Amino acid sequence: MTVQKVIIDCDPGIDDALALAFAAGHPELDLRGITTVAGNVGLDKTTANALRVRDFVGMPDVPVIAGCPRPLLRPPLHARDVHGDSGLGAASIPAASSGPAGGHAVDFLASATATEPGQITLIAIGPLTNVALALRLYPELVSQVRNVVIMGGSAGRGNVTPAAEFNIAADPEAAAIVFGAGWTVTMVGLDVTLQARATAAVRDRMRGLGRLADELVLPSLAGYRNVSRGPGSESDGGGPAVHDVCAVASVAAPELLTCLPARVEVETAGRWTSGMTVTDFNAADDACNARVAVAIDGGAFWDLVLDAYARVAAKVGAAGVTPR
Ligand code: RIB
Ligand code: CA
Repeated sequence: MTVQKVIIDCDPGIDDALALAFAAGHPELDLRGITTVAGNVGLDKTTANALRVRDFVGMPDVPVIAGCPRPLLRPPLHARDVHGDSGLGAASIPAASSGPAGGHAVDFLASATATEPGQITLIAIGPLTNVALALRLYPELVSQVRNVVIMGGSAGRGNVTPAAEFNIAADPEAAAIVFGAGWTVTMVGLDVTLQARATAAVRDRMRGLGRLADELVLPSLAGYRNVSRGPGSESDGGGPAVHDVCAVASVAAPELLTCLPARVEVETAGRWTSGMTVTDFNAADDACNARVAVAIDGGAFWDLVLDAYARVAAKVGAAGVTPR
C-alpha cells in the first residue's frame, strides 16, 4: 500500500464535500490539509462547509486554512443556483467543533510542500485563485509538489457557458497562471466527470451508509439544482455528476483514468469563450503542459467510492444516532 500525501484546495460545494468524504475513507490518502477558496459560494461558507464536513467524516485534526475571497481580477462567480445558498444542497450536518487554522491558504500551500518536498500531491477542485497566487509568491512550488491535479476545464463543452467549465470560468487568469507555470497539470475535466453520475442505482447503493448517507451524501446529492441540460449533461436522466470526487479518486487510483498529453491554453479575452481550456492533443511533446483525462472506468470508480464511504460510515455511525 503506497500512501499518498495530499492537500485539497476546494470550494465546498456539494461535490467538494463528497470528495472530502472520499479522502477521509480511502486508506491510501493522507490528507495533510484543506485549503478553501471562494467559488460555489463565498469564502465564509466554503470554509465553514469544509470545517463541518471535515469533522463530520472524522478528520477533526486536518487543518483547514482559508484562502482568497475572490478571483484575481474578475468579480466573484458563484454557483448557488446549483449548490444551494448553503453550498451543501439539502445536507444539514453539525457545525464544526473548531475554526480554521491561522494564516492564509497560499502560504500554507507553499510551506507544507516545502516541508515535504516532492511528497505532496496538490489537488485543486475549485477556482484556481489560491494556487495561482501561491505560484506567484512561491515559484518553487512547481518543483516541490509531487503532482498537481485539478478538477476543471474541458477539451469539449463547458457547463457554465458553452465553452467554459465553472472552476476555470470563475478565474481564467488564475487558470492561465497554473497551466503556464512549467509543471504538468493533470486535468480532470468535464470530458470524464460528466460520465461519473450519481444515478439512482448508485444512490441506492449508498442507502445503507447510516448517518453519512442520511445526513450528508444523499441530501447533498438531492440538493443539486439546475444541473446543466443537453446531451451528456447532469440532467440527461443520469443524475448529478460528482466532478470533484473524480479528481481525488484519480490520485488514489490513477488507473481509473485514461489521460493523454496535450497543450492547454486558457482563453482569458474571448467575449463568448472566456475560461475555455483550449486543448491541443497534437502539440509537440515538449510543448505539452498537461495530462488530460479522456476516459474513466465508471464501474471501478463507484466501487472505490462506495468502499471509501463504507469506511467513513463505520466511523460516523448508524442512522438516527447522533453522538452526544
Ligand atoms: O464544474 C464543476 C466544478 O465547479 C466542481 O468543482 C464544482 O464543485 C464547482 O466548483
Ligand atoms: Ca468544487
